[in-house]
Order: sequence, then C-alpha cells, then structure tokens
Amino acid sequence: MAAEKKASVLPQHVGIIMDGNGRWAKKRLLPRSAGHRAGAQNFRTITRYCSRVGIKYLTFYAFSTENWSRPAEEVGGLMHLFKDYLEEALRDFMDENIRVRFIGDMGGFSEDLQALMRRVEKESAGKTGMVLNLAMNYGGRAELSRAARLFAEDVQAGRRAPGDMDEELLPQYLYTAGQPDLDLLIRPSGEQRLSNFLLWQCAYAEFVFFDILWPDFRPQDLDKALEIYASRQRRFGGV
Ligand code: IPE
Ligand code: IPE
Ligand code: MG
Repeated sequence: MAAEKKASVLPQHVGIIMDGNGRWAKKRLLPRSAGHRAGAQNFRTITRYCSRVGIKYLTFYAFSTENWSRPAEEVGGLMHLFKDYLEEALRDFMDENIRVRFIGDMGGFSEDLQALMRRVEKESAGKTGMVLNLAMNYGGRAELSRAARLFAEDVQAGRRAPGDMDEELLPQYLYTAGQPDLDLLIRPSGEQRLSNFLLWQCAYAEFVFFDILWPDFRPQDLDKALEIYASRQRRFGGV
C-alpha cells in the first residue's frame, strides 16, 4: 500500500530511534542482550522494507554517545552484535543496492570494528539506491561541536572567513553533509524525546511516536507512520 504513495507525500529522509529492546527482553524474562539481538534482526527487516517502499535516506540511531554509560557487559555485548550484524546484514543490503554510511565518532570503537565499518562504506560506495546512515557513537551535540571545530580549523588555515558561517554552510560540516534534512522521525518504545539525535537535521521534522517496543515494530507500523506523515500539514513557518 505504502509503495503506491506518491513521491510528494513520501518522506525523503526518515529517522528511526530504535528503542525498547531492554524492556522487550524484560517482559519475556530474558537478558537485555536477547532484546538487542531481536532489535538487530528487526533493523534488517525494516531497512529492507524502507528501501522497497522508496525511501531515499534512512537514518537509524543504533548507539548514542551517552550509551557508553551502560554496564560494561551490555556495552560489550552490543559491540559483538554490531560486528556480527555488520558482516551479515550489510551483505544483504549490498544486494539491495543500499549505500551504507556511518555517522558518529568511529574513533570510539575497536580497531576491528572500525576496519569493518570502513570496508562496508567502501564496498557500498557505488550503490545508487537508498542511503542508510547508521548513527553509532553519535550525539547531536557532539556533531555540532565537531562542526564548530572543523569550521574554526578552516578559518585558521585561511580557507574560510568567520563571516562565511550561515545556515547553508553549517550543515556542510555535519556528518550528513549533502543529504536532505529529516522529514519524518519515528520513535517506538513509548518515549517521546530526541535523546540527542540529529538536533540540527530535525528542525522541521514531523514526529511520530509509537507505544510499541522496537523488536515488535512491524512493516505495517512503518506504513502507519507514513500515512500519518502524509496527513500532516507542514508549514515551515509559513501560513
Ligand atoms: C535501544 O534499546 C538500544 C540501544 C540504545 C542500544 P534500549 O536498550 O534503550 O531499551 P530500553 O529503552 O531499555 O527498553
Ligand atoms: C536512544 O535510546 C539511543 C538509541 C536508541 C541508540 P536511549 O534508550 O539511550 O535513550 P534514553 O536514555 O531513554 O533517552
Ligand atoms: Mg532505551
């Protein structure tokens, strides 16, 4: 059904905050790691679905700069999961013509994981379908401070003048440079907050929240979010 939507009502850029894995596991008396595994599986399903529906840019929040504060065992488990999933799932995405990019500070991860991320980016660089951004060790504030730092370096090197900075230039220093702003933000799990996700890019995004835990979020729920999005009137400050 959603596949038949007109391009005009289909969001170009969708962001998803994958949340609720821990509560999903708790409800089943399972360890949190089982919730993360189920969440990772669902990430694969929903990514493939978004690509088929015709979404051009999809950004998933997978690990925030704040998530390092979780118990070492949980963080360690997530790192293992990232490695397994990057190997497997991203190979499928290649078959689907998906270009994968990582947004966040990759330097925070182990050397093997960084090497794997670079490989995935390199191998999918020529793909012409959906762009899939994986936000890992990502924080909106960290991204904006990094942009300020990069601009300051350009000024210091004489490549830019302070007066060059404006709303057109700043996004060129973000991880998402060259990509459109977010149109639709989806957060399952019942929480209704950004949690430091894409602060700049969400300026005029439409928010759709679900009382569903991420591992239970189905393609039909994505259709529902697309329908809600299509029914919204976006005004961008106008009338
Ligand atoms: C999201 O699920 C996954 C990550 C943040 C890595 P949570 O682990 O936050 O699940 P809840 O919110 O505790 O249920
Ligand atoms: C946001 O979820 C981060 C990711 C989904 C990667 P959190 O579970 O970390 O957010 P809070 O702590 O509820 O705000
Ligand atoms: Mg959470």
